[in-house]
Amino acid sequence: MSAIATASSLTRAVRFYEATNGKKVVMAITGVILFGYVLGHLLGNLQIYMGQERIDAYARFLHSQPGPLWAVRLVLLAAVIWHILAATQLWLLNRSARPVGYSRKENVPTSYAARTMIWSGPILAGFVVFHILHLTTGDVLPAEYQELHPYHNLTAGFSHPWVSAVYIVCMLMLCTHLYHGLWSMFQSVGISHPRYTPWLKRFAKAFAIFICVGNISIPISVMTGILPVK
Ligand code: HEM
Repeated sequence: MSAIATASSLTRAVRFYEATNGKKVVMAITGVILFGYVLGHLLGNLQIYMGQERIDAYARFLHSQPGPLWAVRLVLLAAVIWHILAATQLWLLNRSARPVGYSRKENVPTSYAARTMIWSGPILAGFVVFHILHLTTGDVLPAEYQELHPYHNLTAGFSHPWVSAVYIVCMLMLCTHLYHGLWSMFQSVGISHPRYTPWLKRFAKAFAIFICVGNISIPISVMTGILPVK
């Protein structure tokens, strides 16, 4: 491809991103990557119910593949950064389009999930930082942390009520964020039709509840003794 053709495709891509729709498509693409990760991560974590050896072996396997592990980490990091950037730009654009706020805020047409996106997003970003410091680097509870022993780290961590509380509250927030995010993503990429809308909404709700209940079950199982601390 000639330098001129490359420059013009680049200009087109920049123009596309500058438009509101371009940012929405970026939100959708990065959202799909993040949904995929959250689903895969949950399926990996649920192996805790198959025993200590099973989930510890899973962690050893992941860490024995540094190439793919770092590739996934870099893709995730890029997706998170771009997702947050596009969300912030869309929020600023919306605000500048309506410089004078509503005299009376009408919350009726938007759902609870939609209204909470702007603060559930930053809280979830904070959760991910806390979570990595807790389970990947071991800085939250350093005296208890054992590298490559997720069963011990999870059960020892969730036996502290405050740690379980942080996870449970953040997972509830993740549920509303996923529900609205998935639903808006269908609209951004043009998957919206009166006939399919109720089904898409049901799918978004079922997916969000599955992720939330699956994740919350782990701290609850530790606190109720179903998963003993080892
Ligand atoms: C109760 C729910 C969750 C549990 C039990 C859990 C469990 C874990 C564990 C055990 C690790 C360490 C893996 C290892 O280094 O061997 C980990 C890492 C991680 N988790 Fe979670 N997780 C949960 C929820 C989430 C959620 C909701 C997200 C994203 C929004 C997330 C994102 C991550 C990330 C980014 C890492 C770092 C992965 C890496 O080091 O490459 N986790 N999680």
